[in-house]
Amino acid sequence: MRHLIDPLDLDREETARLLGLAQRILDRPGDYARRCEGKILATLFFEPSTRTRLSFESAMLRLGGQVLGFSSAQSSSAAKGESVADTIRMISGYADIAAMRHFKEGAPLVASRYSKIPVVNAGDGGHQHPTQTLTDLFMIQRSRGQISGLTIGLCGDLKFGRTVHSLIKALVRYEDVRFVLISPEELRTPGYILKEVLSPSGHPFEEVRRMEEAMPRLDVLYMTRVQRERFFNEEDYVRLKDSYILTPEKLALGKKELAVLHPLPRVNEIHKQVDEDPRALYFEQARGGVFVRMALILALLGLEPHILKEA
Ligand code: NCD
Repeated sequence: MRHLIDPLDLDREETARLLGLAQRILDRPGDYARRCEGKILATLFFEPSTRTRLSFESAMLRLGGQVLGFSSAQSSSAAKGESVADTIRMISGYADIAAMRHFKEGAPLVASRYSKIPVVNAGDGGHQHPTQTLTDLFMIQRSRGQISGLTIGLCGDLKFGRTVHSLIKALVRYEDVRFVLISPEELRTPGYILKEVLSPSGHPFEEVRRMEEAMPRLDVLYMTRVQRERFFNEEDYVRLKDSYILTPEKLALGKKELAVLHPLPRVNEIHKQVDEDPRALYFEQARGGVFVRMALILALLGLEPHILKEA
């Protein structure tokens, strides 16, 4: 049995096969509409989410399966003090696969150790978010034709943004990727990502403060929200929240084929006028997340052979 806790739980070939399957589902969704009949997905969300939870649920429903779950810690037995280990042991008897989001880093990993069903990390604290990463890679590949050889700008809250941490981990496995890390001093990429992921990869990376300076050389611009819920005090959040706002004027400095991505939700960091620009791909990116999660559910349930290697 396989789980997806960290983006590196899938090797590069498995990732490529999974994205290939996501593309086949996108092209011919009808062929997959009954593949999960009789299967149940549990969505265990101890932290709020709209997109991720609903995209998992939509994915399972579009495969003909069913879903159950909870969408906040208050509405689960966690409020009574139940451990993650006990929750997943019990859920193993109620469902065939589980997607878990937790405010505590490492909670889905703990769950996977006690689980009898595949566990997918749907975001753990400021740590990792591997299904968002698959969604991001899928959009990069669809828009740019490939993932290798690109200059990728990551902009905003690079400190607390788990989608950024997961995406960097996944991207260093592709050839000739260059990173431009755009953030205020206080929200720089964590040291462990710089030292343990970026430096050993040998890929060039630079840290810059101004989006305008980086814009002309980017192939992909990955915007992120300042992660209010992870700040220790409100003043710091208020001071930093509008550090970067992508406007049509700033976007004008970018390449014609630039891909502007965002994991969403957007707060202020992308001006609404940018939505009309053909380079704004974030809503299409979110739509793609459903096909990616459909592919992942099929692969983890063993319903689509030859995607994952034997565990
Ligand atoms: C992201 C997350 O939860 O980390 N959202 C998502 O899953 N699409 C990004 C965010 O909340 O800013």
